[in-house]
Amino acid sequence: MIALTGDRPTGRLHLGHYIGSLKNRVVLQETCDQYIMIADLQALTDHFESPRTITDSVLELVADYLAVGIDPMKSTIFVQSQISALSEMTMYFMNLVSISRVERNPTVKAEIAQKGFNDSIPVGFVCYPISQAADITAFKADIVPVGDDQLPMIEQTNEIVRKFNRIYSTNCLKEVKPRLSHVSRLVGIDGQAKAGKSLNNAIFLSDTSEAIKTKVFSMFTDPNHIRVSDPGKVEGNVVFSYLDAFFEDKDELEDLKKQYRKGGLGDTTIKSKLNDTLQSLLQPIREKRAQLSRDFLREICHEGTKKAQRVASDTLEEIRDAIGLKYGI
Ligand code: TRP
Repeated sequence: MIALTGDRPTGRLHLGHYIGSLKNRVVLQETCDQYIMIADLQALTDHFESPRTITDSVLELVADYLAVGIDPMKSTIFVQSQISALSEMTMYFMNLVSISRVERNPTVKAEIAQKGFNDSIPVGFVCYPISQAADITAFKADIVPVGDDQLPMIEQTNEIVRKFNRIYSTNCLKEVKPRLSHVSRLVGIDGQAKAGKSLNNAIFLSDTSEAIKTKVFSMFTDPNHIRVSDPGKVEGNVVFSYLDAFFEDKDELEDLKKQYRKGGLGDTTIKSKLNDTLQSLLQPIREKRAQLSRDFLREICHEGTKKAQRVASDTLEEIRDAIGLKYGI
């Protein structure tokens, strides 16, 4: 089974990525032929004015991958922009999708509103689901492990696959299935629904032990939980959201919640528990990260990208054949 996943390189990876996808990939690489794409072309669609943000993040992403246990012998890590077959495939696929169809994509719609493009939406941006269809089909992926925000991309991909195969009488493209991760999205340390670099509200895998502690102790709890003896709210309490995601002993966690709701459990106690949990999760990751040289990271990227180039150009050949772009010249 072939799996394809990817991340936009716009900063280092954080705990939301860890529970949302990285943990999953470490497991999947044991049973799947897994490709992990660093989606720098896609990142350019909304960062075209600040390419350094992207180019500076590529090796950081590779370091995060290897530090959490992605094994380059089992997973192929590659850089999207270095595979020109993907851009050419995107070009062929663009003919198969109407403008109103790309504009209907709910994820793209939400991003347009959030980024404040207003009347100047870059064509490249609305088309990124088409380029994503090229990423997925070039590697003949069977599954794409994703969060639910990516479901519209899979749907779009399968529409393109069916249309391409029908129009050009071929079966060279393969439909793909999403593999949904069932963890809920990790909130920011300030309680905002989204954690991220620009919001400065995430705990990064590469954060120092002091930074982790400072962030944990600055987390929002329950504003009405003033004295230790006051009853407190667990729902919407950021510390408990993180404990839900990372604290292994679920029975102990239930007891803590009960006590907190009743009153008598202080914020300092739950924050210390969370700090201990995150420190022991992130310390080995940070140490592994520190051992990785830039040369080694570059080498991993180079090897992965070479392999990805071979696979994608084979698919591109089939696509050109199906369309009939052969002139004997
Ligand atoms: N859209 C994904 C994101 O925003 C990144 C991505 C690009 C991707 N191409 C992909 C994910 C192909 C899965 C498959 O994070």
